[in-house]
Amino acid sequence: MARTVVLYSHRGGTGKSTMLANMAVLLAAEGRRVAVVDTDIQSPTLDVLFGLGPGECSLTDYLLGRCEIEDAAHRVGPEGVHLVPARTSPASLAEIMATGYDVGLLPEAFDRLVAGHDLDVLLLDTHAGLNNETVTAMASADLLVIVVRTDRIDLAGAGEIARLAGQLACRRALVVSMAPEGVDTSAVRARAEDAYGAATAGILPYVGRLAALGGERIFARAHPDDPLVAEFRKIISVLVPPVHKIPAG
Ligand SMILES: Nc1ncnc2c1ncn2[C@@H]1O[C@H](COP(=O)(O)OP(=O)(O)OP(=O)(O)O)[C@@H](O)[C@H]1O
Ligand SMILES: [Mg+2]
Repeated sequence: MARTVVLYSHRGGTGKSTMLANMAVLLAAEGRRVAVVDTDIQSPTLDVLFGLGPGECSLTDYLLGRCEIEDAAHRVGPEGVHLVPARTSPASLAEIMATGYDVGLLPEAFDRLVAGHDLDVLLLDTHAGLNNETVTAMASADLLVIVVRTDRIDLAGAGEIARLAGQLACRRALVVSMAPEGVDTSAVRARAEDAYGAATAGILPYVGRLAALGGERIFARAHPDDPLVAEFRKIISVLVPPVHKIPAG
């Protein structure tokens, strides 16, 4: 059965899209069927990270009734990840903000992608904070991954999210991201776990080599042997362990 994993953060720039893109290629390289949906219509990222050209059919086009969600899922890269970009033209943002859309189309899209591609994992990227797309993605999640930096302000919205996630009854996990060298990671972990009421699946260091890539390539492809990639793999093994199928008979 597919697992829907949503990456969320209270504030922007915590490393969600980076982590999601790396998880996607590493999961797919293990042979899992993976799709990713960029629900961040305001500030899309995944089309750029995965090198998708402009003008391709997107989530926004689907929400505006211009294409089917199946047409918006593009196979990107050698690992075979399917990507639904948030939007690939600036004009569609103004249009969707003016017209709105039927919010029920989002969960329908997630269900159709899971069924159509017989997915093992559906990864949903979100805009920071709470908006329609983010809350709808969270409502579809089996697992909500909250990405926080060691910065105290990242914990500010914790109460709100913990309450919302409690109502949604999905599993919750934390990832501490961009931990600076020398920071007291156990203190950070304890503070974040206390604030969000979730266990920490991993702590990702701040890696200058990643920042220097400037979004040109996905880190796990560019530097497969870097210790950060090993950390991504550890997080995957905690969050989305492979399901061992029991042979029939
Ligand atoms: N572990 C890391 N070490 C150093 N730089 C990182 C790390 N993770 C991400 N970055 C860099 O930080 C920036 C923000 O990352 P990213 O876009 O993934 O964050 P985000 O949470 O998706 O942001 P937004 O909220 O705007 O969607 C990017 O330039 C990325 O390359
Ligand atoms: Mg992002």
